[in-house]
Amino acid sequence: MKIIVAKDYDEMSAKAAELFIDRINKKNDLVLGLATGTTPLGLYKNLADAYKAGKVDFSKVSSFNLDEYVGVGHDNENGYYYFMYHNLFKHINIDLNNVRVENGLAEDLEAECEDYSNSIKAKGGIDLQLLGIGHDGHIGFNEPSSVFSKGTHVEELTQMTIEANSRLFNDISEVPTRALTMGVGDIFAAKEICMLVNGKGKAEILKKCLYGDIDPMVQASILQLHGNVTVICDAEAAELL
Ligand code: GLP
Repeated sequence: MKIIVAKDYDEMSAKAAELFIDRINKKNDLVLGLATGTTPLGLYKNLADAYKAGKVDFSKVSSFNLDEYVGVGHDNENGYYYFMYHNLFKHINIDLNNVRVENGLAEDLEAECEDYSNSIKAKGGIDLQLLGIGHDGHIGFNEPSSVFSKGTHVEELTQMTIEANSRLFNDISEVPTRALTMGVGDIFAAKEICMLVNGKGKAEILKKCLYGDIDPMVQASILQLHGNVTVICDAEAAELL
């Protein structure tokens, strides 16, 4: 595992953008795994700027997002498709037919999950997976558990996650309690993983994830076993390393 400590959020985002641009320039039909949350916003801004400056071409790139809330459609401003469209997709030349975010409105959620994992495999798997980390160590929406999940599935969100994510809603009562998420198996199958972590509030969980036991109670700890992970964090998140 490679750990890069950047001095601050901007440097972390710039370093992550360098990595993404390098991989896309080496393989123009790269399959990306993408993440939401506030952590990757700087990376997405850098990618949009690089596209505008002619430094990267997304026309053949495809992407799968980690997760989406159950009951939330593509045009819901609290949803993750909406987030991706407004923070990245509309600013670059990615073909929207090549981007996929789980359908939170699917009538048959099980079928949607199965199709999602199968579609990732049909594309040849994810080349480069972006991850953030939740305060409880979740990746995607894979919450602390007694097991590591395999494929895309419906997850009951913990109170901690609901509270953390409520800052993006008008009221905590509006935060969905369930989400569709790629499984840890889907994530682990990615050829390369880049995890971004910033801020003091993530220092404790980052330490557990990198140096603690490999334990499904800290789902991100499984990354210790993956052969091609780069963690890019800022100095505050790296404080306890
Ligand atoms: C959500 C997302 C995760 C993300 C996490 C951390 O729960 N499902 O993919 O990593 O939030 O978000 P933030 O980057 O805002 O701290």
